[in-house]
Amino acid sequence: MKPGCNGTTMHPAILVTGGAGYVGSHTVISLLENQSEADPFDIVVVDNLSNAYRAEGQKKPEALVRIEELTGKTIYFYHADIRDAKALSNIFENHKIDSVIHFAALKAVGESVQKPLEYYQANITGTCTLFETMRKYGVYKLVYSSSCTVYGEPQSLPMNEAHPTGDLTSPYGKSKYFCEEIMKDLCLSDQSWAIISLRYFNPVGAHHSGRIGEDPMGIPNNLMPYISQVAVGRLPELQVFGNDYKTVDGTGVRDYVHVADLADGHARALKLFRQPGFNGFHAINLGTGTGYSVLQMVKAFEEASGRSVPYRVVGRRAGDVAANYADVALAARLLAWRATRDLPDMCRDTWRWQRDNPKGYQA
Ligand SMILES: NC(=O)c1ccc[n+]([C@@H]2O[C@H](COP(=O)([O-])OP(=O)(O)OC[C@H]3O[C@@H](n4cnc5c(N)ncnc54)[C@H](O)[C@@H]3O)[C@@H](O)[C@H]2O)c1
Repeated sequence: MKPGCNGTTMHPAILVTGGAGYVGSHTVISLLENQSEADPFDIVVVDNLSNAYRAEGQKKPEALVRIEELTGKTIYFYHADIRDAKALSNIFENHKIDSVIHFAALKAVGESVQKPLEYYQANITGTCTLFETMRKYGVYKLVYSSSCTVYGEPQSLPMNEAHPTGDLTSPYGKSKYFCEEIMKDLCLSDQSWAIISLRYFNPVGAHHSGRIGEDPMGIPNNLMPYISQVAVGRLPELQVFGNDYKTVDGTGVRDYVHVADLADGHARALKLFRQPGFNGFHAINLGTGTGYSVLQMVKAFEEASGRSVPYRVVGRRAGDVAANYADVALAARLLAWRATRDLPDMCRDTWRWQRDNPKGYQA
């Protein structure tokens, strides 16, 4: 163990990039809640706060402050950009990093079309800088936040990991795909690497406490936070992009997965690293395997919240597909993982967070 700066000993650490964001913060709290005394580890978060709120005068972003309150545990936080090689090296010098969960990225599909360079810089240059630093310090275990976006237009449903990837239009989707290709090449070049790329379908929901949740800056890009902001009165109505798809009611169908289930998927991926001889690149879907339409989501949310969600149907949005949902057999086989929370759970937890924090973390 490395000695800590205050004379205490440090445990092996998990570095979480983007750990102040939505999926990252839920993964951090889940790891800390499930930590056993027999197997101690430190959590180290690096985040540039480009999409996370920190109150004036606070050292840590609000999500992490609340996680520390809820768990009674300390999180090491570094306000830095993953493109900053010096800052990353400093973190690896200060902690005994054992593995990395890499969430930090820009993630708005539409914005990425307007700002491709910013997206490639943050998502690809940042990721390469992180990998260079990991290699420099001999850290080869990585869980990567990928997305079902890498599949593009579904050629068959449900989509399994053998579905072709890369035929994509948005710089965001391409950045996730390129990173996967880079990781495959890394694993081919050096057998020390063990990389699990988790392809999330549509993360929704919030921590059951109602204290941690999704806090998008500006108008939400995703359906669930949009619905919940309409329900709480922050936005006047939901725009439904197209009701003439070949789906159950004409609106788009997606595979929504509770963020707490996703968090559990990351914990299981870390466990896989302990299997003797485990290495190489592995892409794994994380979804429920069931798709719900926009109107089914609206109805479920109204039932969970007791609020009405007015909506208006407008034209289709460029790039949207009619339906996608995951084949989750590989996650069950490799990670012994399956989603355990259903749609009412997802809506109830989202609503509790939204109702108790109508302005997100800035309340
Ligand atoms: N939420 C989704 O719908 C979804 C779906 C599929 C995949 N993903 C992927 O999951 C990951 C996490 O997504 P999220 O929803 O939690 O997003 P988020 O924006 O809430 O979290 C990302 C965090 O990374 C930080 N960050 C961004 N660029 C950084 C940089 N260059 N250096 C350091 N920190 C940086 C942000 O401040 C933020 O706190 C992303 O990689 C995203 O592409 C998300």
